[in-house]
Amino acid sequence: MPGTATAPDETTVGIIGGGPAGLLLARLLHRAGIDCVVLEGRDRAYVEQRQRAGILEQGTTDVLRACGAGERLDREGLVHDGIELRYDRRAHRLDFPSLTDGRRVTVYAQTEVVKDLIALQLAAGPPLLFEARAQAVTGADTDRPRIHYTHDGRERTLACRYVAGCDGFHGVARQAIPQSARRTYTRTYPYSWLGVLADAPPSQDELVYAHSPRGFALLSMRTPAVSRLYLQVPNGTDPDDWPDDRIWDELAARTALDTAPWKLARGPLTAKAVLPLRSAVTEPMRWGRVLLAGDAAHIVPPTGAKGLNLAVADVTVLARALTQWHRTGSTKPLDAYSATCLRRVWRAEHFSHFMTTTLHTAPDQSDFDTRLQLSQLDRIAGSWHAAAELAENYTGLPLS
Ligand code: APR
Ligand code: PHB
Repeated sequence: MPGTATAPDETTVGIIGGGPAGLLLARLLHRAGIDCVVLEGRDRAYVEQRQRAGILEQGTTDVLRACGAGERLDREGLVHDGIELRYDRRAHRLDFPSLTDGRRVTVYAQTEVVKDLIALQLAAGPPLLFEARAQAVTGADTDRPRIHYTHDGRERTLACRYVAGCDGFHGVARQAIPQSARRTYTRTYPYSWLGVLADAPPSQDELVYAHSPRGFALLSMRTPAVSRLYLQVPNGTDPDDWPDDRIWDELAARTALDTAPWKLARGPLTAKAVLPLRSAVTEPMRWGRVLLAGDAAHIVPPTGAKGLNLAVADVTVLARALTQWHRTGSTKPLDAYSATCLRRVWRAEHFSHFMTTTLHTAPDQSDFDTRLQLSQLDRIAGSWHAAAELAENYTGLPLS
């Protein structure tokens, strides 16, 4: 039976990680007739409840639709034509379709994407094993790499033709690349985000990214009845130091406008967590027969909403390359996989860093630094070219 928890010992592509990268890769391979197995370390409930970002580029929604995961997305996803930047107590809207070749984004939480992909996978295969934790990958430089994993309290081995490391930032697949052959580039930021979910309708039609002397704030949403809100907070902040009223007051202060009447709708908070901001890229993304995709290879601070979209772009390129190999025996696209993905990855890294450092206030920030940020925001508000540059990056560069 497809999708059952039997533990096979052999497959064509062994996928470590059942986040969006691993699950989508499995779907794409399944549709191309390539056999694969997904090993996910956590249980289903955990994976389906993890709160992550929720902005899908047009290329991402196209891929999800094409692999049969678009039905609920089309019904429940909220299509947005722009975002609002707030700074200096003023608002400036960026209209994406007119700044790009008609591109838009869709608000649909990553958790929902994961639920849709898991449902498809369990209904139609290929096998997805929960609580199957990979310990190591061996033989990356042979034609039979192996994933060593534990499942049902037993140690097991999955022999593969290729291994896809989709196991996120804390995964083990990256370690299959010898230390001497890999390099990780990192940047940490001197602030974190306090993220909350609220049973309150969004106070605005589109997302609001706010620069303020009190720090950054982001007003986002999940559904017409649920808001997702973020505040810049110092690293090491304890969420318990932020009672609900303090959060609402701070969100209101950071998004206040002099130019228009505006009121933040409040409601009960149902989740509260502090998230650190980091940038990291591991190169190369392929070594021997191990290929890294998504957060296993790179992470971005969430300010540009790029994490999920990058993971989708990686596995789209990877599925095409594996399909070519499977059909013709050619490894050319697989050989180009790392370089192809890294071009897009570094663009997204730059954009995410740009959005982060333009909108946040660093603890040691001088007035000079703040004037530079405001000048940059004014430039985006006043120049079609500067606005188009932001809009193109935000809505995503074409996948091909
Ligand atoms: N064995 C099996 N599974 C593992 C292991 C392991 N050793 N280590 C990690 N995993 C699983 C995690 O439990 C998780 O479900 O790998 C999955 C990785 O999923 P994500 O972290 O969601 O990463 P990815 O699929 O690349 O998606 C990227 O996630 O972090 C966000 O912002 C990021 O939106 C982006 C998206
Ligand atoms: C979110 O809705 O969770 C979200 C939206 C935009 C971002 C980050 C997070 O840039």
